[in-house]
Amino acid sequence: MCGIVGYVGDREAAQFLLEGLTKLEYRGYDSAGVAVFDGENIRVEKSVGRLAELKEKLGGNIPVGTMGIGHTRWATHGRPSDLNSHPHTDCAGDFVVVHNGIIENYLALKEELVKKGHKFLSETDTEVLPHLLEEVYDGDFEAAVREVLHRIEGSYSIVFMSRRDPGKLICSKQDNPLVIGLGKGENFIASDIPAIIAHTRRTYILSDGEMAVVTKVGVSIMNYAGVPIRKKVFEVNWNAEAAEKGGFEHFMLKEIHEQPKAVRATLSARIEKDESAVVLEELAWDKAFIDGVHRIFIVACGTAYHAGLVGKYYIENMARIPVECDIASEFRYRSPIIDDHTLTIVVSQSGETIDTLAALKEAKRLGSKTLAVTNVVGSSIAREADQVVYTWAGPEIAVASTKAYTTQLIVMLLLGLYMAQIRGSLPKERIVELVRGLKEIPTQISRTLEDVDPIKTFARQYGFNEHVFFIGRSLDYDVALEGSLKLKEISYIHAEAYAAGELKHGTLALIVDSLPVIAIATQKSVYEKTLSNIKEVKARDAVVIGIASVTDTELEKYADHVIKVPETDEMLIPLLAVVPLQLLAYYAAITRGCDVDKPRNLAKSVTVE
Ligand code: M6R
Repeated sequence: MCGIVGYVGDREAAQFLLEGLTKLEYRGYDSAGVAVFDGENIRVEKSVGRLAELKEKLGGNIPVGTMGIGHTRWATHGRPSDLNSHPHTDCAGDFVVVHNGIIENYLALKEELVKKGHKFLSETDTEVLPHLLEEVYDGDFEAAVREVLHRIEGSYSIVFMSRRDPGKLICSKQDNPLVIGLGKGENFIASDIPAIIAHTRRTYILSDGEMAVVTKVGVSIMNYAGVPIRKKVFEVNWNAEAAEKGGFEHFMLKEIHEQPKAVRATLSARIEKDESAVVLEELAWDKAFIDGVHRIFIVACGTAYHAGLVGKYYIENMARIPVECDIASEFRYRSPIIDDHTLTIVVSQSGETIDTLAALKEAKRLGSKTLAVTNVVGSSIAREADQVVYTWAGPEIAVASTKAYTTQLIVMLLLGLYMAQIRGSLPKERIVELVRGLKEIPTQISRTLEDVDPIKTFARQYGFNEHVFFIGRSLDYDVALEGSLKLKEISYIHAEAYAAGELKHGTLALIVDSLPVIAIATQKSVYEKTLSNIKEVKARDAVVIGIASVTDTELEKYADHVIKVPETDEMLIPLLAVVPLQLLAYYAAITRGCDVDKPRNLAKSVTVE
């Protein structure tokens, strides 16, 4: 969603701000702006559209000064426009603010401030912040910010800058991420690490309810009452190169190709040397713990939800504990039945998705044990959950999630096996079989990635169709859901995934001559039934692209084209079957000339409900 950057030091601030915002472009936005303090005044420049438009507007006239803040806005309150873009200022131009999230009580505050004579220029909730600051300021910037923080409700990360108190940025957060990068004689603020990683790997990750005063020589952190907080420096364990495209045309393609490496990292140190069992040292659960879990919820959004669906299958099959999988934005509003015998597993690549975070808090409030599966160390979700299993996929920049999905599947499988080991619900030989299969997966993904030419051809051939259907049964259906989300989000093709057996209950009416149907048929236990469903769509003259295991010789008799993936256990094959679907989505988006890494209306990290 929105991106925040801040700089205070001896360099020209605008240079860092524009470069930092560029690194946050992947988060999704529709306008951008910067504010720079030149020692006397604050110059604010903003523009609707991409950063390129802001840069064009600035031309050679870049704001001068060594302290500044910047923002990329993803519109919520008020349409994308120059006026609604951040930074926002007070009436006198003494205070400027950038903000991610939503100020829920802004209408009441705005009404109060308007009555007191404040003039508002935008439709945003954010603009109440500088006006409120102006209203309560009586010579002490920090005290005034504390007062503002006490009065606002909602979710936010905010940076405040004042011309009345030069050399000082103040920031705070609640349910939205904010990091402070520690430099030498300079310090940085950002809503996400890629914005600062080229300058420093030493950071403070702010927690909810903390406020930081950042100058070029130091950072002091306190709570809203002003009581100092000692915080540990968090050393980021990846570098600037990991957040670059590394020769690939898009981050998405790079991340698809990084999957073998990412899966190896997820598996690393989590398998016994003799391949006999799974080790999850971070959990150290015992029989008493597992026996105390009578029901599991897996809660997530989007792609992470699709990984959760596969997780449900794994855990129920291996550990024989009932699992419900829920969309996070639905979960908390449906009064879920939770007690202290419930384990809630939340899955989130970013660890910042607000719906997932809220669901996690609700599950905790109702007494559930909680576990987070996330990729981002120190993220809000990682900190909120009782326990965490990291996916270790490395930074994922493209909006379309790829390596995060495969590594989430790996963690789901490890969890299923781990619980089964403790419960004794799966024969030892079966555990060994799956563990051995798992170890082959990175090499098998690499092999799948080599066979890209037919996928490029299909993408060119069918990339201009307006509708595509995905069908499958059992785990293939879960993969179909993910394949269809990938295609629709980056190529804007209307794609729907159906449980193949459900077609004749309504959807078959939509199957017409030449309509592409992608049929995933890797699950042996339902193979014959899937074939019957494929025949049903073929009988309506659909064009069928099948996904099957390399040993399959049947599917090509019925499908128009077949993409083969290496042979593995049917539990593991989703890890391979999803790869051609990711590539198909990517090349279809290329065929249609779409902005692959930054699809319209979407953001990488969804921090509003
Ligand atoms: O960071 P999260 O895993 O919590 O994000 C959840 C979804 O927003 C995310 O998976 C989204 O669906 C992706 N754009 C899909 O590619």
